[in-house]
Amino acid sequence: MSEPVLVVGGAGYIGSHVARALAEAGHEVAVLDDFSTGHRDATQGHAVVECALEDEAALDAAFARLRPQAVVHLAGRIEVGESVRDPGLYFASIAANSNRLLDAACRHGTRRFVFSSTAAVYAPGDAPLPENAPLGPASPYGQAKAMVEAMLPHFARAHGLAWVALRYFNAAGAHPDGSLGERHDPETHLIPLALRAAQGRTGGLTLNGDDWPTRDGTCVRDFIHVCDLADAHRLALDYLVHGGESRALNLGTGHGHTVREVLDAVARVTGLPVPVTVGPRRAGDSPVLVADPAAARELLGWRPRFADLDTIVAHARAFERGRA
Ligand SMILES: NC(=O)c1ccc[n+]([C@@H]2O[C@H](COP(=O)([O-])OP(=O)(O)OC[C@H]3O[C@@H](n4cnc5c(N)ncnc54)[C@H](O)[C@@H]3O)[C@@H](O)[C@H]2O)c1
Repeated sequence: MSEPVLVVGGAGYIGSHVARALAEAGHEVAVLDDFSTGHRDATQGHAVVECALEDEAALDAAFARLRPQAVVHLAGRIEVGESVRDPGLYFASIAANSNRLLDAACRHGTRRFVFSSTAAVYAPGDAPLPENAPLGPASPYGQAKAMVEAMLPHFARAHGLAWVALRYFNAAGAHPDGSLGERHDPETHLIPLALRAAQGRTGGLTLNGDDWPTRDGTCVRDFIHVCDLADAHRLALDYLVHGGESRALNLGTGHGHTVREVLDAVARVTGLPVPVTVGPRRAGDSPVLVADPAAARELLGWRPRFADLDTIVAHARAFERGRA
């Protein structure tokens, strides 16, 4: 058996798609997860190590046993608003846990590391954002991710670790076969919330402001299909195997959609209007967040396959319906 790729957080929304894409590409895969927000059935038959990143001894034992050739690290808390209310929780979950994971990986000879970063590391700025746009996280969540990005070159210098930090924009959609998708609790992401509102399962959707300086007053975001994100992780590992330079890469389509445009897509796909109420702007939101994905295209050869918004919504809807 070849050395596995360890997918940390592989029972979660994005991680389960990453593990699936790696396995389909012929990699040996092991998922490490504490199932705090992930789902056992999302591991789909991959080898599983149930372990919390806080448990240093268990982490050490897992690395000693598996000797992974590479780590893809997606585990951690993901709520921007919660991070503002409880920053300590986020610096522990993202920065301290990543430090522990990096340390264990380097101690056991793992030399490749792919890290789930985020567009939340950027300062509000012009769209589209290239990777060298100024960083300036508005939340402890984004700050903790930026801290991990800053740690990586130090592990590279000391231990020869090759790394890529993938800055996701808005992950969305579900696996086209309907078996994997978004199951956060509480759910805060726009498309699943809009689908539930359209189906009358909630009291409607609250817009976080409709007076932003954008084409219809709602925020503009870059929605990237979760299977396209998963493909980029596979390509990032190949890139590192072939000696690619360690760096951060944006993952987005390069095209922005307003929140109202997303609601229109949900209405088109479901045939149901999305009831909305207009709330105040949310602290820390940027009016526009759109990726410049040129570097990932050029260096990884990455091409999103599902860039069309209606396709993203249709896949998310098929997954929701399968669970209803
Ligand atoms: N969803 C997005 O739009 C988005 C955007 C940018 C970045 N990200 C990043 O992508 C990653 C994955 O996001 P997601 O939406 O799949 O989240 P998720 O909550 O579905 O998945 C996270 C997984 O990590 C596991 N986990 C959490 N803490 C752990 C710990 N201490 N020890 C072991 N396992 C632990 C959870 O059980 C879960 O399976 C996160 O790091 C997130 O910050 C997500």
